[in-house]
Amino acid sequence: MAKTFAAITGVQGYVPDYILTNKELETMVDTNDEWIRSRTGVEERRILKEPGKATSDMGVEAVKGLLEKTGTTLDEVDMLICATVTPDFPFPDTANVICDKLGIKNAFCYDINAACSGFLFALTTAAKFVESGSHKKVVVVGADMMSSIIDYEDRSTCIIFGDGCGAVLLEPTEEAVGIQDSMLRSDGMGRHYLHQKAGGSLHPATQETVAAKEHYVFQNGRPVFKAAVSGMSDVVTQVMERNALTAENMAWLVPHQANIRIIEAVSRMADFPMEKVMVNIQKYGNTTAGTLPLCLWDYEDKLKKGDNIILTAFGGGFTWGAVYLKWAY
Ligand code: UT7
Repeated sequence: MAKTFAAITGVQGYVPDYILTNKELETMVDTNDEWIRSRTGVEERRILKEPGKATSDMGVEAVKGLLEKTGTTLDEVDMLICATVTPDFPFPDTANVICDKLGIKNAFCYDINAACSGFLFALTTAAKFVESGSHKKVVVVGADMMSSIIDYEDRSTCIIFGDGCGAVLLEPTEEAVGIQDSMLRSDGMGRHYLHQKAGGSLHPATQETVAAKEHYVFQNGRPVFKAAVSGMSDVVTQVMERNALTAENMAWLVPHQANIRIIEAVSRMADFPMEKVMVNIQKYGNTTAGTLPLCLWDYEDKLKKGDNIILTAFGGGFTWGAVYLKWAY
């Protein structure tokens, strides 16, 4: 029997309208446009400002567009996974809320929390359901409203993050396209460098946790930077080697958009030219689980069937990984 592959058959993104520029950040914290551009590559980021709107609403917009564009009906979707660290609620899952708001009734759905690697973890998980033959139309969403957990008085984090979302449809195919390989990693020691301290069972919300700003992202940037470069370049190199991929026969490297200097270092260490590296950090900043599908969405018209692509990410946990796929359309 021919092997079944899980192929991405459509991608759609959504970013909120409000643009938070470096200039505006200069009025909020002690920073400047030159520092932000040169140290991170971010020029602007999107912020979801509408009262009453949350991560699920970005997911709804992306999934609605995805289903329209791929000619998929609500009833055909049999699974939906949402990667996020900014769910609408601690429970129920944001995936459930997205399905309810859209009227998707035949899907089982859940969230995955792997921070900036969330989309890769969700994509790999979803691919297993498709490859096994049990599920035919699986939606994978990467969505984060980072503005809900960012301290806009902390210049080391507020300049980096933004809100955004992307979604892909995975379908089975017997052609040798789609997800070919993946390598995912986790190391819980990384939690000391990047976390949200309070709001979980260890430190439930109290007046003290709020006053101490413990519901915001904490990041010790330098060790995270180093681990991101070595983690992503390591898995990218290994996935390239074991699939006989080279800078010549690969079309694109799609890295998590956390810092342009991290992206450039990974490209250098993997011996991969920057011309074939997807970059949109200047427009959206770091949207956590949203970065990879937003890159695919922005570059969709440049992609060709059969293109060899590696997606890679690194984030809170630590979590990291690389997925090798052949573009399917
Ligand atoms: O996506 C999840 C994973 N996250 C990441 O991959 C992020 C990894 N880390 C980073 O991208 C970088 O570490 C940051 C962008 C967060 C910080 O850049 P850095 O080059 O590591 O700066 P730093 O924290 O070492 O600070 C260098 C200097 C410090 O001043 P002094 O001590 O040298 O006088 C900071 O106080 O830059 C100062 N600084 C700023 N100056 C202007 C820090 N933030 C700012 C700012 N504007 N926004």
